[in-house]
Amino acid sequence: MEPIVDLDFIDNRTPEQAAACDTKVTIDSNTGRSRKLYIESYGCAMNFSDSEIVTSILFDQGFDTTADISLADVVLLNTCSIREKAEQTVRNRLGQINYHKKKKPGMVVGVLGCMAERLKKSLLEEEKIVDLVVGPDAYRDLPNLINEVDGGQKAVNVLLSREETYADVTPIRLNSNGVSAFISIMRGCDNMCSFCVVPFTRGRERSRDAHSIVREAQNLVDQGYKEVTLLGQNVDSYKWTSEDGLEFVNFAQLLEMVALVSPNLRVRFSTSHPKDISDEVLYTIKKYDNICKYIHLPAQSGNSRVLELMNRTYDREWYLNRVDAIRTILGEDCGISSDMIAGFCTETEEEHQDTLSLMDYVQYDYSYMFFYSERPGTLAARKLEDDIPLEVKKRRLDEIINKQRETSLARNKRDIGKVHRVLVENFSKKSKEQLSGRNDQNKVVIFDKKHFKKGDYVDVLVHDCSVGTLFGEALD
Ligand code: SAH
Ligand code: SF4
Ligand code: F3S
Repeated sequence: MEPIVDLDFIDNRTPEQAAACDTKVTIDSNTGRSRKLYIESYGCAMNFSDSEIVTSILFDQGFDTTADISLADVVLLNTCSIREKAEQTVRNRLGQINYHKKKKPGMVVGVLGCMAERLKKSLLEEEKIVDLVVGPDAYRDLPNLINEVDGGQKAVNVLLSREETYADVTPIRLNSNGVSAFISIMRGCDNMCSFCVVPFTRGRERSRDAHSIVREAQNLVDQGYKEVTLLGQNVDSYKWTSEDGLEFVNFAQLLEMVALVSPNLRVRFSTSHPKDISDEVLYTIKKYDNICKYIHLPAQSGNSRVLELMNRTYDREWYLNRVDAIRTILGEDCGISSDMIAGFCTETEEEHQDTLSLMDYVQYDYSYMFFYSERPGTLAARKLEDDIPLEVKKRRLDEIINKQRETSLARNKRDIGKVHRVLVENFSKKSKEQLSGRNDQNKVVIFDKKHFKKGDYVDVLVHDCSVGTLFGEALD
C-alpha cells in the first residue's frame, strides 16, 4: 500500500508529508463519556484508517479520545511489522508507556494491528506491560476484550476473517484536516510477495460493499471534505458482488462511482499493483477530471530475476509496458511513484544497476525506498538466504535514493512556469502567511495565502521547486 504514512523508511519526505504522518491522536473529544482512549498508529495508511474504525467502535462503548496519554484509561498502539525496525519502534514506545502505566496502574495497554497478528500471545510474554493483543479483523471484539482486562485477565483475539470489512462502521476521523480522508475499500492481500509479511498479518483479500464506499464518500462530502483516498493493498484487484449475485463492481467501476459523488471531490487511490492495473482503470482516470492523475505503482526491483525471486509475478518488460500505457493514455505529466527494495536475497551489482536504469526510464516523481529486512515466516525467510551484507544494502539504497532525488528534482523543474490546481490542506509548516496543499500529481505546493484558506481549490503558478516541494503564487 502506498506508504504515505509509513514512518519507517529512509525519510525523503517533505516536512508537509512528514507532518501528515503524525502517529498520535490529535483530537480530544469531550462528550462526557466515562472513559478515555489514547491511540497511536504506525505503518501504512491502512492502519491509520483502521484506528478510525477502532475509535468509532469504542466511542459507541463509552470512550472519548484524548491526545494526552497521561489522561488515558486505555492506550492502544496500532502497529506495523513490515520491517524489523517498525517493530523495534513499537517496542521502544512500549517502554516509554510503561512510565505512564506505573503512575496510573489501572491503565489498559493494548497492541493492535500487524504486530499483534504476527506475534499473537507471545507478545504478552515478551512485553510484560501489554494487557491486550488484538489482530486487524477482531476490532469488533475490543469492548469485550477490554472488559476481560478490567476483570484482571490478559486478553487476546487474533482471529483472521474472510468476510470482515467493517463496512457498516462509520470511522471517527483522527488527525483530520477536514479536507482529505481515507476510505478502506478492501482488506488483506492474496499476493504472496516473498519478502512480505502482510498476507500473514492481514489475511485473505476481501472487497467491501461498493455502495457502503459510495455512502462514506457522500457523507464526507456532506461534511465538507474535498478529497478521498481509496485504500487497499492491491486496489486493482477490487471486486465486489452483491449478495443476490446480480451486481458486480470492479475497481474501474468503483472509481467511476466515487468520482460521480461530486465533481468537487478529488479521488485518489493506493496501492496499484503492476500485474493488475488495467487499461480500463487508466481510461477511467482519464475520463474524470476529479480522479487524480497520479499512480503509486511499486516496482520493488528493475531486474526480472529478482522480481521472480520476490514472487511479484511480473517482469521488467511487463512493468515498463504498464508505465508506457500510463504515459500514452494519461500523458507525460501523470505522476508516478514507486517503492524500491535494495539488497534483496542474492541481488548482484548488475541487477541493482537494473533498478537504477528502470528509475531512469520511468522518471518517478518520488519513491519510498528501503533496504531488505528479512521477516520471519515469509517465503523469502524460509527459502532464500539473506546474503547481502548490511553495508552493501545500505550503499545500494543510497544510490537508489540519490537517483530518486535527481529524478524528483528534474520532474519538479518541469512543473515550473505551469499553473497547477492545488487543494489547500493547511498552513505551510514554516509560516502562517503561507498555505500548503497538493496538486493533481500529489506534489506539495506552497504559496502565499492571500485570501485563500484550507479546503479551497487554488490555481497556483509555480515559479520554483526543491526536491520535495513546488513553490508558487496563487492566481486570483
Ligand atoms: N501492497 C503494496 C505494499 C505494501 S508494503 C504493494 O504491493 O506495493 C509497503 C512497501 O514496503 C512495499 O512496497 C515494499 O517496498 C516494502 N517492504 C515490504 N516488505 C519489506 C521487507 N521485508 N523489507 C524491506 N521492505 C519491505
Ligand atoms: Fe505485500 Fe505483495 Fe501484498 Fe503488497 S502485494 S501487501 S508487497 S504481498
Ligand atoms: Fe501496513 Fe505495516 Fe501492516 S505496512 S499492512 S501496518 S505490516
